[in-house]
Amino acid sequence: MDAVREVEPQDFDRVLSSMCTEPHPVARDAAERFLATNPGDPGTYPQVAELEREAISLLGEVAGLEDPAGYVASGGTEANIQAVRIARERADSRTPNVVMPESGHFSFQKAADLLEVELRIVPTDDDHRADLAAVRSCVDSDTALVVGVAGTTEYGRVDPIPELGRVARSVDAMLHVDAAWGGFVLPFTDDEWHFGHAPVDTMTIDPHKMGQAAVPAGGLLVRSADLLDHLAVDTPYLESTSQATLTGTRSGAGVASAVAAMEALWPDGYRRQYVRSQNNAEWLAEALEKRGYEVVDPTLPLVAASVPRSTFDALRARGWRISRTATGELRVVCMPHVTREMLASFIGDLDRLEVRASVPITSDD
Ligand SMILES: Cc1ncc(COP(=O)(O)O)c(C=O)c1O
Repeated sequence: MDAVREVEPQDFDRVLSSMCTEPHPVARDAAERFLATNPGDPGTYPQVAELEREAISLLGEVAGLEDPAGYVASGGTEANIQAVRIARERADSRTPNVVMPESGHFSFQKAADLLEVELRIVPTDDDHRADLAAVRSCVDSDTALVVGVAGTTEYGRVDPIPELGRVARSVDAMLHVDAAWGGFVLPFTDDEWHFGHAPVDTMTIDPHKMGQAAVPAGGLLVRSADLLDHLAVDTPYLESTSQATLTGTRSGAGVASAVAAMEALWPDGYRRQYVRSQNNAEWLAEALEKRGYEVVDPTLPLVAASVPRSTFDALRARGWRISRTATGELRVVCMPHVTREMLASFIGDLDRLEVRASVPITSDD
């Protein structure tokens, strides 16, 4: 039996909730070419190591950071864990804490568990952004890190990053921005989110999400290279002397595809994509609103709407890959593969369900 040949990977024509997308053709090609390389061993694989430097340089341009340092991680989870690790290592406290809004990604929970730091979760305001007063009252001299999210997973919101930076500095803590998803759309908005806007120390920004690279290509950026020293361990059996990554052997495919995607798309291609995705999100939000659903305004290309559970289940039964927020709203992420036609077909299915639900049951039924 040839199990792999018999199974087709899913296509994207009904995928509405993923934060990953179809890689750009040049990113797919680069991933295939560099499949058998390992940037974790730069002494043996110098070409891909050079490409990784290029990836960091391009990510720095996207994120407003001159002279950037960092590496291409397995994803946003690893980058977030490493940011917490840097902050813990840098902190003087023996009982360090991390302060994060409740909109922060669950990867910080993993980081806190692994690194044995206290995770202090503060509420968000009515617009789903970090409540600054709550953050202020939560930090103290043991705070090692304040986390702000630039493009939240559930509502696409951007926390007040410069203000969070001021709060972090007031207690000598670091500021981490999680722009895992938002990093490739925010350059085309008025939001203040990056290294040039605020005293950001570390950032997660993932090419394998809106950056249209192949998985796995996450990104960790640090304001100065010495921050990576907090992560570095000696590597006795390799030609290189130390390693700052969490994983050892890593995917050269992710690195090469990140470079290929960014070279092809930064900045104009990403700008065009942002405009397309944002227009789609606004179109969907309006279509849902017209049908009487309560919609969270899509300030980035992500729509959340209060749709009854039964409707949600019926849409999933029709093959739509949709998900729900923690409070139960339907959540649609307008990734590059999400076209207007897909959304129109989705709304068409929703309308058919509604018609069926509103047909009165008669004694003949
Ligand atoms: C804001 C944010 N941070 C981190 C992550 C985790 O990224 P990954 O799944 O690549 O580990 C996600 C995933 O969706 C995310 O939305």
